[in-house]
Amino acid sequence: MNDFTGAEKFVPDRGGLRALRAALPTCRGCDLWQDAEHVVPGEGPARARMMLIGEQPGDVEDKEGHVFVGPAGRLLDKALVAAGIERDDVYLTNAVKHFRFERQGKRRIHKTPAVGHIVACSPWLRSELGIVKPALVVVLGSIAARAVLGTGFKVTQHRGEPVELPDGTPATATVHPSSVVRSREYRRDFELFVDDLRAAAAML
Ligand code: URA
Ligand code: SF4
Repeated sequence: MNDFTGAEKFVPDRGGLRALRAALPTCRGCDLWQDAEHVVPGEGPARARMMLIGEQPGDVEDKEGHVFVGPAGRLLDKALVAAGIERDDVYLTNAVKHFRFERQGKRRIHKTPAVGHIVACSPWLRSELGIVKPALVVVLGSIAARAVLGTGFKVTQHRGEPVELPDGTPATATVHPSSVVRSREYRRDFELFVDDLRAAAAML
């Protein structure tokens, strides 16, 4: 499953978020850099108390090189506002830093990252967690949950509950905003998503 060399040797061991951001484009830890347009670094203040972790950049993020700027990002923005959380106060990142996709004609269709990609990319996320030292991690969706909470964790069963990362960092999980974008029960699922974010804010 995991035959990639991994990001470890590309991750600087000092220099904070600035050094991470500078080193990220050099990463060849797995094969996803080859077809992507941009690597997408995490964004937000190093002193952020809340870190939100998504899955991987989408089509728009890959083109622009910024996190959560496409449809899922717009929904996340709305939900953060509704939950009383300032986007500029949180650190936003992804479990995997390059966009994995399949071409269908001219379209690029999101493809779920393999376990090997998640494992290969995890040194970047570990480093971000070590620098930001968030008081609370908010895990967005099952891929991010797999990356930081392990394969046994079921988001649908435990969404909105206080949990912990293996190192004891307080965390909570909710669905991925793109699942709300696609939802056939949009209003209900948007409100549930906002409820989870409000619960997260209350955990700080
Ligand atoms: N989905 C994610 O998980 N992350 C992004 O940055 C955009 C969409
Ligand atoms: Fe490196 Fe992660 Fe990109 Fe793979 S997805 S090349 S591990 S930054």
